[in-house]
Amino acid sequence: APGGSDVVARLTRWADDFPTPGVRFADLTPVFADAEGLRTVVDSLAEAGRDADVVAGIDARGFLLGAGVALALNTGVIAVRKAGKLPPPVHRQSYELEYGTAELEISAEGIALEGRRVLVVDDVLATGGTLEAAAELLTRCGAIVVGAAVVLEVEVLSGRERWKHGPLTTLGVV
Ligand code: PRP
Repeated sequence: APGGSDVVARLTRWADDFPTPGVRFADLTPVFADAEGLRTVVDSLAEAGRDADVVAGIDARGFLLGAGVALALNTGVIAVRKAGKLPPPVHRQSYELEYGTAELEISAEGIALEGRRVLVVDDVLATGGTLEAAAELLTRCGAIVVGAAVVLEVEVLSGRERWKHGPLTTLGVV
């Protein structure tokens, strides 16, 4: 098994019927709150991004990981935010949720993305809509998405099938 999966399996907390009935929510808070857990997860995700020159973390738990992975890779980090958090101008990408649609945004000023080699980082891959939208958005901004690294993959939701942007590393599969 890839690095990190033991500590992930041991410390992940499962919440039934959250955020909606029938959904089982993987809460990685205890993994990140554990010194060994955070170190193991961040280092394992960074392994997947050795040819990246910048890291993009997805709102919100991807931020926690993205900064750690960026420090491990000696790169900077970019926040891919939910709509309405950034001052204009922004680049925006819509995507499908399990229920309805949502939007991700990146600041359109002050970040040079053209030709940058980006590793996209998040905590959980479920339907894959969020991760794919983030990669699509970064690509539209001129970045080269060299892959994605996610802690936990929920296999039954087939998120991996939506992903079209290079190697997708997940540390644990449920
Ligand atoms: C969760 C998770 C991923 C996304 C995965 O975020 O952190 O970003 O859902 O789902 P998908 O593969 O089906 O797109 P959430 O929507 O709970 O947002 P939050 O991190 O802002 O709470």
